[in-house]
Amino acid sequence: MVSTASPALDTLAARAASLDAADPLAAVRERFLLPEGVVYLDGNSLGALPAAVPPAMADAVHRQWGTDLIRSWNDNSWWDAPLRVGDAVGRLIGAAPGQTLAGDSTSVQLFNALSAAVRLRPGRPLLLTDPGHFPTDQYIADSVARLFGLEVRRMPPAGLPRFLAEEGERVAVAGYSPVDYRTGELHDMAATTRAVQRAGGLMLWDLCHAAGALPVGLDELGVDLAVGCGYKFLSGGPGAPAFLYVAERHQAAFDQPLTGWNGHVEPFGLSGDYAPAEGVGRGRIGTPPILSMLALEAALTAFDGVAMEQVRAKSLSLTGFFLDCADTLLDGLGFTAVTPRAPERRGSQVTLRHPDAYALVRALAARGVIGDMRAPDMLRFGVNALYITHRDVLSAIRQLAEVVMSAEHRDERFRHRTTVT
Ligand SMILES: Cc1ncc(COP(=O)(O)O)c(C=O)c1O
Repeated sequence: MVSTASPALDTLAARAASLDAADPLAAVRERFLLPEGVVYLDGNSLGALPAAVPPAMADAVHRQWGTDLIRSWNDNSWWDAPLRVGDAVGRLIGAAPGQTLAGDSTSVQLFNALSAAVRLRPGRPLLLTDPGHFPTDQYIADSVARLFGLEVRRMPPAGLPRFLAEEGERVAVAGYSPVDYRTGELHDMAATTRAVQRAGGLMLWDLCHAAGALPVGLDELGVDLAVGCGYKFLSGGPGAPAFLYVAERHQAAFDQPLTGWNGHVEPFGLSGDYAPAEGVGRGRIGTPPILSMLALEAALTAFDGVAMEQVRAKSLSLTGFFLDCADTLLDGLGFTAVTPRAPERRGSQVTLRHPDAYALVRALAARGVIGDMRAPDMLRFGVNALYITHRDVLSAIRQLAEVVMSAEHRDERFRHRTTVT
């Protein structure tokens, strides 16, 4: 165990200072309104507030809604917002324009995308997903399977190549996440996509933990379908619209089950029969939440002039430094790092295991260091390279060591479970 006032700490502090001084994205932090005294390591759950959002919201509410009223659907281009914002997300996930749409929630987009995938691969009885996938992805896979009379197979990414070699021709669609939401492990998107497609199935990626965090190159990898949320690394705000990616080659046959009037080829023709719009616009359902959509659009400007490769390089530097700090400052305090050490296997978060995970996360939050906890014993720390510094990382771990050494987390007030952990 290293005292939190030690030469080792001084060395880490000097390293943090030099890494931050050389950071090409340092100025981007000013594009976010971070509260004074807070180290925010939960941007993998809810991104921090981008400075561009409050004025955009004031304009959307007062001028666009308050003054322009319903004319805003045309005059302020509200109608086009799902496609416009979709393209802005598309730039961050390697999708050429016209393939990404913003709207609804990840869960809804997943339902439509998985169902449409099943319809694109008739006669194939299996739907593959990860037993470690986020619950909504597993629930929706089960529900889609029940609706279409298919079977869900839960297969960890490591077991996929063998499974596909044996039963691949029975797989309609595989729904996976590049990043494990608990451990932060990054899976090989290219190899998985290739293996699923070689077997004739479709690949659907859930990019909730990847969009805005690392380059995913959907077009380059030839991915079929993808979904993701707008509120994590894209910082679009609580409940921000999700997004749907449909590769251009699939759009003409993309047949989703939730067929609302916004996705009709002629929405104001008011026909009683559904005929889908051309292009990814057929992924639209009903009236989009315009205020949230405009908040997301403003939030995405935080990425202006920033290449995803730069985001990735800084994110890896932050998570690598996190692991080094943890090795030095948390040694002997009961923690185990579960996030892989190899950079190519790390997403943009670090997860530590500790038997007192919940109380520790609460005690840290009381000090202004915000991470979160996933049952039963995981402390998750997300790093958003647009606004986190190496100094933040060191401060978080130093304080975590102090909390454990002083047994601060044993205080009664940190024991009670809140609804959201
Ligand atoms: C991988 C993944 N998919 C989906 C969701 C959530 O879906 P929704 O946005 O519909 O709540 C999450 C939320 O954390 C997630 O981590």
